[in-house]
Amino acid sequence: MSNVYSSTHPLVAHKLTRLRDKNTDPKKFRELVRELAALLAYEATADLATAPRQIETPLAPLDGVELSEKIGLVPILRAGLGMVEGVWELIPQAEVWHIGLYRDERTLKPVEYYNKLPVEPTVSVCLILDPMLATGGSAVAAVDVLKRWGVRRIKFVGLIGAPEGIAALQKAHPDVPIYLAAVDDHLNERGYIVPGLGDAGDRQFGTG
Ligand code: PRP
Ligand code: URA
Repeated sequence: MSNVYSSTHPLVAHKLTRLRDKNTDPKKFRELVRELAALLAYEATADLATAPRQIETPLAPLDGVELSEKIGLVPILRAGLGMVEGVWELIPQAEVWHIGLYRDERTLKPVEYYNKLPVEPTVSVCLILDPMLATGGSAVAAVDVLKRWGVRRIKFVGLIGAPEGIAALQKAHPDVPIYLAAVDDHLNERGYIVPGLGDAGDRQFGTG
């Protein structure tokens, strides 16, 4: 699992435990998703390119840097929406491009229902935001869409991954690094991650 980065940060582990708790209400759940997304994005963006930038501090001139890549945040509707704000706080200049995918409950295959990407890519690096990497079908489809759009550097930022989903994403797109708060044990017969946290969309939006 060479390109899988499962966070070892105590803050991530602490917040993820509260997120998983079935007694955590939607308001707290959304707060935790937002905070976890920011912590993981901090780790996932450690290799972003910078360019020199000269400024003056109140005391002296300084050779500083600024981000030199155009960054796109790509939340997968619905559940990925809750991850946007936390990452956007860190990278306010990022563009946000939404992709709508849902899993057919019977086949577990992703169905695309929203995509308004313009013809030419407007960013050079994309962070796909989706809390759950279960069978991997949705993540593979999202990367397919972004590669067809013309983006070369793509990273997947999620909260919990199942071994099955990680393997599927690595097989289809070995060039896409995967950043997670945890790798869980297995998928159940309905394609849910165990122990997981349940349905990430329903728990955020109160629709369970
Ligand atoms: C969830 C989740 C992922 C997908 C993961 O979305 O947010 O997008 O399932 O499953 P997979 O790896 O097996 O494809 P869901 O389809 O429940 O839609 P929602 O976000 O609208 O609730
Ligand atoms: N989608 C979710 O929201 N939870 C899972 O465990 C699997 C897919």
